[in-house]
Amino acid sequence: ARALCGVVALDGPSGTGKTTAARRLATELGAGYLDTGAMYRVATLAVLRAGADPGDPAAVVTVVRRTRIDVATDPDTPRALLDGTDVSAEIRTEEVNRAVSPVSAVPAVRELLVAEQRRVIHETLDTGGGIVVDGRDIGTVVAPDAPLKVFLTASADVRARRRTAQDSAEGRASTFEEAKASVQRRDHLDSTRATSPLRAADDAVLLDTSDLTIDEVTAKLAELADGRGLLG
Ligand code: DC
Repeated sequence: ARALCGVVALDGPSGTGKTTAARRLATELGAGYLDTGAMYRVATLAVLRAGADPGDPAAVVTVVRRTRIDVATDPDTPRALLDGTDVSAEIRTEEVNRAVSPVSAVPAVRELLVAEQRRVIHETLDTGGGIVVDGRDIGTVVAPDAPLKVFLTASADVRARRRTAQDSAEGRASTFEEAKASVQRRDHLDSTRATSPLRAADDAVLLDTSDLTIDEVTAKLAELADGRGLLG
C-alpha cells in the first residue's frame, strides 16, 4: 500500500469537505490526522464551561492556559479531550460554533495551540510517518514548509447544504438558511481577524470542491501528494 511521508497542509473554510476528505486521505495513506479546529473548539468549550466571556481576551487566555487540550491523531477515532475527558460530541454544538471565532482570534490562544500542533506534527515526522493537518492557517503559519498545501473552497450554498446534511446525520436540526448564515458569519470573522486570518498560502494548490464528491476530493488530494513524491 502507498504510505504518506511528510505533511499535507489542508486549509479552507468549513463545508468544503475538508475534514472528511482529510480523514479519508489519512486512512488510505496510513497517515496521522490532526484536526486543529477541534483544538480551538476544546478551548472554546473550556471557556464556556468556566463561565468566562468568549469576547474577553484576558479571561479567555486565563482559562485556556490552565486547560489541557489533546486531540488523537488516529484518523479513524478523532477524539478530542478536555483535561483528559472526551468532549468529541460537546465541541460540535451551536453554542461552541458561535463562540469559537472570538476565542480563536485571541493571539495568545493561537500561540499556545500552534506550539502544540507543531509538537504533534514533529512527533509524527520523527517516526518517519506522514500527517494530514486540517485547519485554517496550516500552510501559512503552522507548517509553512509543508511539501503539499491545498486550499479548499466551495460556494456558500453548497457549504450550507453540506452543513445541514451533516447536522441532520449527527442528530441536530438546522435549516438551510441558518446553516448559510452561520457559515458566512464564521467565514467573515475568520478571514478578517488580525492574527492568522483564513487565507491561502501563496504556494497552495486551490481546489474548488463545489461539484466534487468526497471520493473525488480524496482522490485528487492523493494524486497531488503522489505528484509531490510524498507517497512511499
Ligand atoms: O474546522 P472547524 O469548523 O472545526 O474550526 C472551528 C473554528 O476554529 C473555526 O471557526 C476557525 C477556527 N480555526 C482556526 O482559527 N484555526 C485553525 N487552524 C482551525 C480552526
